[in-house]
Amino acid sequence: MLDSRYTFRSDYGGDLRGVDAGREVTIAGWVHRRRDHGGLVFIDLRDRSGLVQTVFDPEASGDVFALGEEVRPEWVLRITGTVRERPEGTVNPNMATGEMEVLVTVAEVLSRAVTPPFEVAEGIETDEITRLKYRHIDLRREEVLQALLLRDRITQRFRKAFEERGFVEIETPMLTKATPEGARDFLVPSRMQADRFYALPQSPQLFKQLLMIGGVERYYQIARCFRDEDLRADRQPEFTQVDVEMSFVDQDDVLGLTEDVMSEVMAEAGVELETPLPRMPYAEAMGRFGSDRPDTRFGLELVDLTGVFADSGFKVFRSVADSGGVVKGINVKGCGDWPRARVDRLNEIATDAGAKGLAWIAYTSDGDVKSPITKFFSEEERTALVSALEIEAGDLALFVADVPGVAEPVLGVVRTHLGDELGLAGDGFDALWVVDFPMFEWDEEEERFTASHHPFTRPFDEHVDLLEERPEDVLSYSHDLVINGVEVGGGTLRIHDAELQRRVLALLGIEKREAADKFGFLLDALTMGAPPHGGIALGLDRLVMLLAGADSIRDVIAFPKTSSGACPLTGAPDTVTARQLSELHLKRD
Ligand code: AMO
Ligand code: AMP
Repeated sequence: MLDSRYTFRSDYGGDLRGVDAGREVTIAGWVHRRRDHGGLVFIDLRDRSGLVQTVFDPEASGDVFALGEEVRPEWVLRITGTVRERPEGTVNPNMATGEMEVLVTVAEVLSRAVTPPFEVAEGIETDEITRLKYRHIDLRREEVLQALLLRDRITQRFRKAFEERGFVEIETPMLTKATPEGARDFLVPSRMQADRFYALPQSPQLFKQLLMIGGVERYYQIARCFRDEDLRADRQPEFTQVDVEMSFVDQDDVLGLTEDVMSEVMAEAGVELETPLPRMPYAEAMGRFGSDRPDTRFGLELVDLTGVFADSGFKVFRSVADSGGVVKGINVKGCGDWPRARVDRLNEIATDAGAKGLAWIAYTSDGDVKSPITKFFSEEERTALVSALEIEAGDLALFVADVPGVAEPVLGVVRTHLGDELGLAGDGFDALWVVDFPMFEWDEEEERFTASHHPFTRPFDEHVDLLEERPEDVLSYSHDLVINGVEVGGGTLRIHDAELQRRVLALLGIEKREAADKFGFLLDALTMGAPPHGGIALGLDRLVMLLAGADSIRDVIAFPKTSSGACPLTGAPDTVTARQLSELHLKRD
């Protein structure tokens, strides 16, 4: 609703209703559609609030009718007229303003428009690059605008929820030093100091910890983060976190607070979040779903069959079982009659994901068993398998045998693929916490441990003694919020002891000098009275994507980048002049 003190126009056209009949209104907006009904011209005028039908009558005074005949789509008009109820039989029940129209008395062209590169309409098939190149046109489309309006409502609701709980919104620097969140940094060369670079923040992680050491106690920020990594539907090089940190808390405090805030925020989008949310240890998530962000809206769970195949005649399975690996399977209900090509496609997905193969047994609905491997199985194995996977006629069993670190995630990928292909998930929202992540992950390529979350994550108190001897067994106070198989947020309790922080950095192969150089300021600060603290960062883009029912976070970002990191609208990233480079003390190869 417009405030009455605004004079350029009196109303948003889309807000008008039948009860406004008789009022004189002034509205402004774009020509959405123009229909010439021999004698009368109808123009649907569009503004942010929606569409309203205006009527240009040849009887109107001045050049009103001539103008109505001349205008074209996307011209910008200001119209003054009288609201009237539509005549019997012309009410449009599909339009919010469908019971009224504005009979035009004065019309003014504010701006003309060339024919737009694509129609301002729903469900257009224009390719995304073109839509992004002309995003200012795309934004005029209802579905794009609605996504941004939803994003705004969600953002405002976060702010309200945090303000009500005594959190302080504090901005942290964009030109800063590297924060290790596991991606590549975007670097900004310094003109004033040759050979020195700022890094754009991958997250405000270190600053929020410094704010806790500084006594702020409860911080939040709608923070822009930058990560130079390969892009996917749910990854952009710059994205937004709702970043949160709290002092004097344990993990239950952080999770409880987040649940309360998330319930309020999701309610804003009409989604009820049942709290407390279930908590699933990382190991269980991997074991049952093959993923640390399990989509728990459907079953198709992984079953451990290592025991069944301990003495198998099928060499692949037995040797994996013998060498400490696992044989994991899933039962794809009702797909036992699939043609071979469809099963082969799954095999391709599994091998692309790193498996040596995807073994299969098709139990056809007429009672046949087709498979390249059952001939190696004993009768007991066959029976045990049928019972372990709860096989019925018409089912398809799939197996991967490997170390758990391969078998589980590969079957997880196959499971997710099948969930999509078979439409198993349905509507609705299913949220849970995945907790107790390992502190470290072994990086095969670099032959060293890396941090599962980030190096500031606090290990379980009772695992601190294992740090040097069995780092692979150390678990951490960590928590990811997962909704419908999407990692919507992640956080941890932090190390608040300088000595422990040094030990963890050393385990990550960050030696003393390097640690002092990179994180000296944090290590120093930790010696000056650091409260126990922890927090979380929620991916705003991903959350809004889910709530908007969108497939990509690009749909909920006003000016997103393409998968190659480009902005088709501005042409960024762009070349620079030799002079700009030289001012920055940079040379081209
Ligand atoms: P993390 O790296 O898990 O944690 O990031 C938090 C959340 O941010 C979202 N996210 C992204 N969204 C879009 N595009 C990306 N490239 C992208 N990368 C991450 C995800 C993710 O769950 N400092 C820690 C938080 C903490 O420990 O408090 C951090 O950044 O939804
Ligand atoms: P092979 O004996 O290598 O011809 O394999 C027989 C079947 O087992 C094929 O369908 C392979 O894709 C599958 N297979 C091979 N290695 C594995 C493995 N590690 N896990 C699961 N299936 C496998």
